[in-house]
Amino acid sequence: MTDFELIKLALEAREMAYTPYSHHKVGAALLCKDGTVFKGCNVENAGYTPTNCAERTAVFKAVSEGYTEFDAIAVVGGMDNLKDLPVCAPCGVCRQVLNEFCEPDTFKVVLAAVNNIEDLTKISPEDMQIVTKSLKELLPLGFGPKNLDI
Ligand code: THU
Repeated sequence: MTDFELIKLALEAREMAYTPYSHHKVGAALLCKDGTVFKGCNVENAGYTPTNCAERTAVFKAVSEGYTEFDAIAVVGGMDNLKDLPVCAPCGVCRQVLNEFCEPDTFKVVLAAVNNIEDLTKISPEDMQIVTKSLKELLPLGFGPKNLDI
């Protein structure tokens, strides 16, 4: 699975985002070590606090189906009226949730600014500026299972 392919799956996931309050749509595609991909979108709530980010939706879908080993996640996001998406990096809570299951040094977070998203079937690598970071780069000195001897 290439970074481009994983970003395309994240763009597909973003189509399902439920965002009547922020109108900010996010999609994620989580790559398991065996090649399985779980997609997730943000799901908002009138109570605001119960809102779930796209990244956590993908992680919770995977873990609830018995998948707990991951190689990478692709994330795309931006306001729902945009034709060109800026880079959208995971929020702090999602970084912490990823840190529960992913090896900080090797787990790859694939982000992308994407142009011309109006027709996803026509997206090509030339439409993207991909940025990749390790989880450790996004969450230095993180607190995780190892701190509790797990
Ligand atoms: N959001 C995500 O889904 N992932 C992120 O990494 C950043 C923020 C969502 C949460 C909320 O539905 C909307 O974007 C605005 O914060």
